[in-house]
Amino acid sequence: MIIEKLQISNVRNLEDVVLFPSPSINFIIGSNGSGKSSLIEAISLITSARSFRTKKSSRIVRSDKSSFTIFAKISAGLTHYRVGLNRESELNQFKIRINQEPIHKASILASYFPQLTISPEQCDLVDGSPERRRSFIDWSLFHVKHDYNELISNYKKTLSQRNKILRTRNGSKLDHWDKVLCNYAEQIDKYRRDLFDQVLQTLKQEIANKFKVSFDINKLNINYSSGWKSGISLEEALINSREQDIDRGFTHQGPHRADFKISLDGVPIREILSRGEKKVLQVLLTVAQLIHFRKQMSVDPIILMDDIFAELDVINIELLFNLVRDLQLQLFVSATDLINIEAYVQQGEKLFHVKQGLLTEMVQ
Ligand SMILES: Nc1ncnc2c1ncn2[C@@H]1O[C@H](COP(=O)(O)OP(=O)(O)OP(=O)(O)O)[C@@H](O)[C@H]1O
Ligand SMILES: [Mg+2]
Repeated sequence: MIIEKLQISNVRNLEDVVLFPSPSINFIIGSNGSGKSSLIEAISLITSARSFRTKKSSRIVRSDKSSFTIFAKISAGLTHYRVGLNRESELNQFKIRINQEPIHKASILASYFPQLTISPEQCDLVDGSPERRRSFIDWSLFHVKHDYNELISNYKKTLSQRNKILRTRNGSKLDHWDKVLCNYAEQIDKYRRDLFDQVLQTLKQEIANKFKVSFDINKLNINYSSGWKSGISLEEALINSREQDIDRGFTHQGPHRADFKISLDGVPIREILSRGEKKVLQVLLTVAQLIHFRKQMSVDPIILMDDIFAELDVINIELLFNLVRDLQLQLFVSATDLINIEAYVQQGEKLFHVKQGLLTEMVQ
């Protein structure tokens, strides 16, 4: 998948920006506060209706304007899409169109245009919240397994129904809802477990030898926990915690509590790796997920990397760029103008300079 043209109006400090990106790597440079992350954010919005910086879309609208608009021409193989997204200030929602057809759900837009973002705003995969780790797993499954989104949505609806019943303190209906919940939960859990096995295998077999890290990737292990006590079924776990659930008015166990811990030679990595090493590992896990995704899907995701130079050292950045080139993916990467970016740009790739919200394509 390739973004061929991008037109951005009134996204943060970007008033009116048009660019024709390269199908391979696009370098975006500029000083602090020039608008680099805003540009990456606009690409995230046009492909998923989500920002990696905020859940409040009102923050994104340029402060002296009442609405923003993003338009993109995107091609996937022989198929061409014209995608539009705008937000009017009165409506606290996005208007999305693909080839003139209105799209009413962000998940539909995202399913057309897979996109992977690596940015400092995303909390740390290792030290961050379990929610962050669950969303890491769910990204692949959302795209690869076509029934996954529906499964998750059914699970959430059932969970909220069960929680309502818990609050009435009348346990008689719980048996029925436990069964429904377990049915969805087991399918979600199986998908997540399988994905983990595959991503870890990809990491060890296909990534370990491509990057230079100071620890032995082959000794990594990921302990996935389903969200309930191991060794028993969720149905049993729900019965065991029923009293506590009724007491507190919510469901303590289930896939909404799933998490994973990464260890190295049996020791939790959060206790031994340096901050930089944890960031490298996070990028490598994302790359492993990307490679796994590519084997399953016919459409290539777009990769967004905001401030990657703050995450990886020069050697690994070079290796990462080469991997993206080998995989023939489209990448947008931002960096401050302190970094000697010209040295990285190869033939066919583009360099854009952002200054106070204005974009200039630099001729190589
Ligand atoms: N809604 C908004 N309207 C106008 N300007 C905004 C809005 N939101 C943020 N800004 C400003 O837009 C500018 C660009 O922000 P952005 O995060 O894109 O900078 P950046 O180039 O990524 O900088 P850095 O190198 O520090 O990461 C900043 O000055 C920021 O304060
Ligand atoms: Mg930035």
